[in-house]
Amino acid sequence: MNIVVGVTGGIAAYKAVHLVRLLIKDGHDVTVIPTEDALRFVGLPTWEAISRNPVTTSVHEDVAKVRHVALGQAAELVIVAPATANTIAKMTAGLADDLLGTTLLATTAPVAIAPAMHTEMWRHPATQANIDTLRERGVAILGPAEGELTGGDSGPGRMLEPEQIAERALALIGDRDLDGLRVVVSAGGTREPLDPVRFLGNRSSGRQGVALALAAADRGADVVLVAAHIDGAVMADAARHPLIRVEHAGTAAELGDAMRRAAEDAAVIVMAAAVADYRPAEVADGKLTKESGLLESIELVQNEDIVAGLAARRHPGQIVVAFAAETPQDREEMIARARRKRERKGVDLLVVNEVGWERGFEASENAVQVIGEGGAVLAKASGSKRAVADDIWDVIAANLG
Ligand code: CTP
Repeated sequence: MNIVVGVTGGIAAYKAVHLVRLLIKDGHDVTVIPTEDALRFVGLPTWEAISRNPVTTSVHEDVAKVRHVALGQAAELVIVAPATANTIAKMTAGLADDLLGTTLLATTAPVAIAPAMHTEMWRHPATQANIDTLRERGVAILGPAEGELTGGDSGPGRMLEPEQIAERALALIGDRDLDGLRVVVSAGGTREPLDPVRFLGNRSSGRQGVALALAAADRGADVVLVAAHIDGAVMADAARHPLIRVEHAGTAAELGDAMRRAAEDAAVIVMAAAVADYRPAEVADGKLTKESGLLESIELVQNEDIVAGLAARRHPGQIVVAFAAETPQDREEMIARARRKRERKGVDLLVVNEVGWERGFEASENAVQVIGEGGAVLAKASGSKRAVADDIWDVIAANLG
């Protein structure tokens, strides 16, 4: 997404560097527009290096490309952080005496500002009247927070933390069609211990499940994410998301318990975790050795089918979604197997994806088909796991009562 970050002349400008980094890390194309004053706090080379885009404060550069309106027109979101009392007053008056001013007038994108100033300036009737006007015009006012200010005094006026600004600003452009929907998503792969150092596991990275949790939360859903052995880096965004509560599960039995608890008041259950079908019949207290001969063959017992159980006990209106990872000889056979699996498990929707040694598991891309009522193929989706997740939620949303 094209995001413009306006930076104005306050000490909190240094924190905006982190905000820009977060947005870049999130995959956005960020153009920073500092005011002249902001450059006294953080210099132009920093903004260019961090945003990977050219930075100017002036409307007189790049005139051929009509930069003073082009940036505003191309922006899908504008964030002003920090927003000083002076900038807030200029925005209210519609002044356009620098590149940030012209951009703010030229844009039709959502605008969020993160005020930062001393408490007296924030409380001044002029500032409060300006804030009211901006709010009426649809500008999102993020913060300020209460806390210690630069002069050693404290009170409202502190800029929100960059993570909060990024999250709340990005939420402005997201579709909130799942607002308040309670969902539970399982992700990752269970591990069934054999002894204190060994387990039976699988290659699921949890990426698709985490993407499903994030997509739902970004669309406003309240999400419980039951995570089985997912790498911290894969979990990072979900762990920070205000609408996601994470529960960790190790084995199939633990995952089953966590799912049943969370399912009680969930409207949608998405079972994306790769659950071990079998577990060792016995778990040794000590490490098994070659000498013991116990590693030659391992007796397994079947785990319960968690999703089939959830589907059998679902309450009216609750939607249950299962996944199937298949290594098909041909696509027709894959769909036929998926249809049978959907019937067997008694779920509403079954998302089937093709996996193999090279496909599916640790990759960031995926390709799936969603099978619904009567075995109908309701959707085919491919692309990033996040894009696939959003397509799956579109199908789920269409199936909600
Ligand atoms: N699943 C489950 N409990 C299990 C095994 C699987 O809830 N003990 C769920 C998975 O989370 C997934 C769906 O069932 O949503 C399909 O998993 P899959 O392993 O493809 O199904 P199986 O019934 O094990 O079929 P297969 O014999 O093809 O492996």
